[in-house]
Amino acid sequence: MPGEIDLRSDTVTLPTPGMRQAMARAKVGDAQRGEDPTVRALEGYSAELFGKEAALFVPSGTMGNLCAVSAWTRPGDVIVASSASHIAGRESPAISHLASVSIAGIDAPGGIFSAEEVAREIAAAPSRTRSKVRLVTAENTHNAGGGSVYPLAALRRIRQVCNKASIPFHIDGSRIFNASVASGVSPASYGKVAHSLMFCLSKGLGAPVGSVVMGSKDFVGEARNVSFRVGGGMRQAGIVAAGGLYALKHHVDRLAEDHENARALAQALEEIPGVEVVNAPVETNIVLFRWMTPAMGLPDFQEALKSRGVLLDDRAFPLFRAVTHLGIGKKDIARAVRALREVMRR
Ligand SMILES: Cc1ncc(COP(=O)(O)O)c(C=O)c1O
Repeated sequence: MPGEIDLRSDTVTLPTPGMRQAMARAKVGDAQRGEDPTVRALEGYSAELFGKEAALFVPSGTMGNLCAVSAWTRPGDVIVASSASHIAGRESPAISHLASVSIAGIDAPGGIFSAEEVAREIAAAPSRTRSKVRLVTAENTHNAGGGSVYPLAALRRIRQVCNKASIPFHIDGSRIFNASVASGVSPASYGKVAHSLMFCLSKGLGAPVGSVVMGSKDFVGEARNVSFRVGGGMRQAGIVAAGGLYALKHHVDRLAEDHENARALAQALEEIPGVEVVNAPVETNIVLFRWMTPAMGLPDFQEALKSRGVLLDDRAFPLFRAVTHLGIGKKDIARAVRALREVMRR
């Protein structure tokens, strides 16, 4: 049987031969001392791409967001995020523990909240029981929203509200390049609308490790300090930074293929009786679908798919998320659809 079709996430990608070569050849040094030329090149390239003064290479998106939140806030502050965001969900234990802030979540379709909703959250505080909102965050694309793209106009309106209240605006852009390729909005435009922005190299871009946080020199200095405090001071990190730099130079435009494959998958899923695509029309590389009439439990379903070479994660069964990435081609989509049809029709 050909290799497994792993639709669980875009984090499962393996480095390509070109990327491995770039990593093997990377010039390295002690990054914590600022002496790793490849880390510096990646930070410089990223900052330039997004029109920011400075950038910081960190091991993960979680650490990138934590550094940004900690750099912008003081213990006891409130930050705004979509309720379904990665920050308000998976990252909230670390953020509430290490940055000591609480999160005011906004419920919004696809995770795309409006400037008016942000203004309401800001106006709701401070009170006797709630501290001041000191940071607004938005996730673009929004993972749990099904890879939804934040319209630039909406981001600009949020920024205006933030400016009026003198509150910084941070974008969790783990998949910002998916947003950029799908919308045609340049990274620099996303960079301009946010005071700080984090993006991941280890998702759709296909690098093995790392994220980049960007902003003003002062902000990045503070974020660097936080990263050091939580163990993010790396040494010869140029080996992995080289993979990230390679991804930025070679793997951005090809994200359009992932979006096309996700749309093809969604279209085929909609033709299976009893299946509903939740985030139609699919905007980027994430398909959310619900099996309305499940004929078996989750373990049997996953096992039946696995025996046909397809891996799929559930998002609270019978809701599923399928993610396309550089390890998935058109033929894989066709094979996955065949497997899903067979298993769901049993
Ligand atoms: C939107 C979003 N933000 C942040 C992260 C955290 O990134 P990492 O897994 O590199 O810590 C993820 C990971 O899936 C994500 O989807």
